[in-house]
Amino acid sequence: MEKILMLSMLLAVSSTAWAANIPEGMGVLPSSVPVPADNPMGEDKIALGKKLYFEPALSKSGHFSCNSCHNLATWGVDNQRFSIGHKWQRGGRNAPTVLNSGFWSKQFWDGRAPLLEDQAKGPPLNPVEMALDSENDAVTRLKAAGYTAEFQVVFGKDSVNYDNMAKAIAAFERTLNTPNAPFDLFVQGKGTISKAAQRGMMKVSEIGCTSCHSGVLFSNNQFMKFDYGSDKGLKSVTGKNEDDHVFRVQSWRNVAMTAPYFHDGSAASLQEVVKIMAKVQLNTALSNHDVRDIVAFLETLTGEVPTITYPQLPRPQGHALDWKE
Ligand code: HEC
Ligand code: HEC
Repeated sequence: MEKILMLSMLLAVSSTAWAANIPEGMGVLPSSVPVPADNPMGEDKIALGKKLYFEPALSKSGHFSCNSCHNLATWGVDNQRFSIGHKWQRGGRNAPTVLNSGFWSKQFWDGRAPLLEDQAKGPPLNPVEMALDSENDAVTRLKAAGYTAEFQVVFGKDSVNYDNMAKAIAAFERTLNTPNAPFDLFVQGKGTISKAAQRGMMKVSEIGCTSCHSGVLFSNNQFMKFDYGSDKGLKSVTGKNEDDHVFRVQSWRNVAMTAPYFHDGSAASLQEVVKIMAKVQLNTALSNHDVRDIVAFLETLTGEVPTITYPQLPRPQGHALDWKE
């Protein structure tokens, strides 16, 4: 009994000692995300949302699903500079990962959708993404594919509609979190990271990267000026001059796995990103040694991806779905 007490005291001391070495503002990824009151999580809803996430019937060609651009086999991205959508068109922004997206208080590079529920209504109707004609078109297709019973289980009778589609997808996305990155284990005294990564961790704090990249996502969830490239960022939503070239501070979680980088996918390597960020945001020229250390630190933020079993989608028996072009 006494021994157990001693041991737990020792553990408590050692975990505070560890915490003291972690720069302020860096946090362990929580095991669950905030859930809006009007869309509680539930097993059936998550299962339905997963099917819809993989559902190509939500695209005009019957070819693209959310997973085409946010591939869950490759950290929720497609590793393309600009994703390929309807009729092989490419959009103008890089697809961010859906992993940990439930932790954002605003979705998109320009933050134009506050919640995952709002976000999920965009892609099916976006002409360069999934290109459906209307919300009705989506509902008709879901019914034709055989979703009526699946929605009924989750949302009740006659419940196949666009809002519920978005709610189910959002509930599924809130499960796509990546805990236990080497950094998280290190902070909790359950593992270690290399000396180079530890130097990088101190460096990003010392030079001020963490004035923007702080919190559990290593993003303060704020919009900051990033004077780079031709995209107007937040100004494209608000029309205000003060929002020109303003973008949401991007997360460092799993960043080593989600190249290429920036809203325009213009940076192919993390080395390049770190140098550009230091120069543009902090007017600092980093030595190659510092860049290597910082990259080593960023690599410790790759977490455990949830295991996704490929869902079986409802389909009518014995006849084809009609993909009208
Ligand atoms: C053709 C490619 C494509 C398809 C299909 C697609 N997306 Fe995206 N997604 C993108 C791009 C590009 C962005 C960034 C757009 C921007 O910020 O302006 C994005 C942004 C997002 C974000 C915001 C993430 C963040 O960090 O802010 C989420 C969440 C998301 N998509 C989920 C979905 C869901 C759910 C679907 C299916 C209903 C879907 N996407 C279909 C390309 C795609
Ligand atoms: C003034 C705020 C600010 C500071 C300081 C800052 N960043 Fe950023 N960072 C941003 C913004 C905003 C973005 C999104 C850029 C975009 O829209 O392309 C970003 C993007 C990134 C990305 C790309 C993520 C991705 O997925 O494309 C990395 C990596 C990064 N920053 C690292 C750093 C490092 C390392 C430092 C310190 C040397 C730093 N940042 C300093 C605001 C900042």
